[in-house]
Amino acid sequence: MVRVYGVIGDPVEHSLSPVMQNAAFRALKMDCVYVSFRVSRGELKDFIDGAAHAGVRGINVTLPLKEEMMRYVTPDKTAEKIGAVNTVDLRRMRGYNTDFSGARKALEENGVELKGRKVLLLGAGGAGRAIAHMLAEEGSEIFIANRTREKAISLAREVGGEGYGLDSLPELMNKCEIIINSTSVGLYPRVNESIVPGNLIKPHHTVFDIVYNPVETKLLRDARNAGAKTIDGISMLVHQGAESFRIWTGRNAPVDVMRSAVMEALR
Ligand code: ATR
Repeated sequence: MVRVYGVIGDPVEHSLSPVMQNAAFRALKMDCVYVSFRVSRGELKDFIDGAAHAGVRGINVTLPLKEEMMRYVTPDKTAEKIGAVNTVDLRRMRGYNTDFSGARKALEENGVELKGRKVLLLGAGGAGRAIAHMLAEEGSEIFIANRTREKAISLAREVGGEGYGLDSLPELMNKCEIIINSTSVGLYPRVNESIVPGNLIKPHHTVFDIVYNPVETKLLRDARNAGAKTIDGISMLVHQGAESFRIWTGRNAPVDVMRSAVMEALR
C-alpha cells in the first residue's frame, strides 16, 4: 500500500517540499507519496488525530504551526531547546527540528568552520532560534541583530551571545566574519530589499541567506559584488528535507535529486 507523507501549514500552497520529497521517493523507487494539507491553528489537533488514524506516516510542519506542534508530540532534545517542531514521525508521535541540522549541513557543505568564529545572525524568529542554538552547539561567538531589539537580546541570553537592534549593524558587520540572514527580508516579491546595506559587506565576509526564492537575493548579490563568499538558501532547504526523509524512512536521502527538483521548480 502506498505510504502517505505531507506538509501542513497555512499558507502551504507555495511549499517546495512536495516537489522535493516526491522526487526523492521516485528516485529510490519507494511506493510513497507526499502531499500538502492546508491546516490552520484551530484545526491542528483534529488533523493530527485524523492523520495518525488514517495511517499518514510523517509530516513536515510549517508556519504558523511549528510552536503549537510541541504540545502534541514528544520533542527530541533539539526541538525541545528550540521550542519548535518542523518534522513529525506520526507513528511514534515524536517531533524533530531539522532546520537546526539543515543549517549546519549547509554551512559544512560549503566548508564554513563555525567553532570560535564570530557570527552575526540577523533575525530572531522561528528559523533564527534554530540557527542560534545550532551556532551555540558548534561553539561560535554569537551576535544577534533584530528589528525588534528585545527579541534579539532575549534569544542571545538563551544561547550565550549578544543581542542588538539593526542600528548596530555597522559595528557588527565590522566585527563578524560570518553573516546569516534568517529574516524574510528579500523574499519574493520584495526582491529589491536587503537587511544589510551593501556597502557594509567586505571580501572577508561569508554571507548565508536562508531565503531561497529568489535563489540569489539582493543580500547575496551585494555580497557577490563585494567579493564575499555566498551561500544560498537552497542548501538549507534541501538538507532539512533530507534529514526529515531520513527520520521517516531510515534511508539516506538522494540529496542531489532533491536539489535538482527544487531548482527546476524555481525556474
Ligand atoms: P520565521 O519562523 O520564518 O523565522 P518569524 O518567526 O515571523 O518567521 O520571524 C521573522 C523574522 O524576520 C523576525 O526576526 C522579524 O523581525 P521582528 O522580530 O522584529 O518581527 C524579521 N523581519 C520580518 N520582516 C522584517 C523587515 N521588513 N525588516 C526587518 N526584519 C524583519
